[in-house]
Amino acid sequence: MQPPWESGRFRNRPSLTEARRDIFPSLTKMIADIRAMQADLDRILFDEATIHRRLDELAARISHDYRGRELTVVAILNGSIILVADLLRRIPLPLKLDCVSVASYHGGVTPSDELIFRQVSLPDVAGRHVLILDDVLDSGATLASIREKLETAGPLNVRTCVLLVKKKARARVVDPDYVGFEIADEFVVGYGLDYLERYRNLPCIGVLRKDLIARMA
Ligand code: IMP
Ligand code: MG
Repeated sequence: MQPPWESGRFRNRPSLTEARRDIFPSLTKMIADIRAMQADLDRILFDEATIHRRLDELAARISHDYRGRELTVVAILNGSIILVADLLRRIPLPLKLDCVSVASYHGGVTPSDELIFRQVSLPDVAGRHVLILDDVLDSGATLASIREKLETAGPLNVRTCVLLVKKKARARVVDPDYVGFEIADEFVVGYGLDYLERYRNLPCIGVLRKDLIARMA
């Protein structure tokens, strides 16, 4: 019998070495791009493996706390997008996912009090167990406003989960139920967090160099 790689289906495909030659330049370029982004960091706070280990712990706690109940996760876009993808795949419970899209930084590095809701209708959370997910708790304005809004829709209960909490005094008291890591009051990027929409795809979380913030502002 003819070996499969001799059949028509395989004959026109590039050989493994040719394919490697194709992939190699784009892979090299990708690594160079990630290195260039990492060079914009003052220092790395959490690498990918550390983040994933912490997500294992958070997911285990959430799965335990919501056992036997159906969860509605409300993810705050865009910052929580990577967290949502990685965390929810670790929670083996029936759940619904909704997203709200807001902006508070308006392109800078200091939060503004005014929260802009980018979508007209909010998720229907009446009678639901709601878990709000966000990337980072900074001034607290985002989480507090979204929580207040959702609570007017009659949910059974609302809890909050953030990957990062900045150690600082806050005008709005917000006490998240699930926290990944506590960090100093510094501007961080990566793993979904952006500066001017950049760096979200960095696999780690790091402090952005201050000279770059000044230069790009
Ligand atoms: P808050 O409303 O001031 O708590 O800010 C929360 C939102 O601001 C987060 O959902 C992030 O999108 C953004 N944010 C706050 N701190 C940082 C940061 O250090 N890097 C990137 N985005 C941040
Ligand atoms: Mg942001």
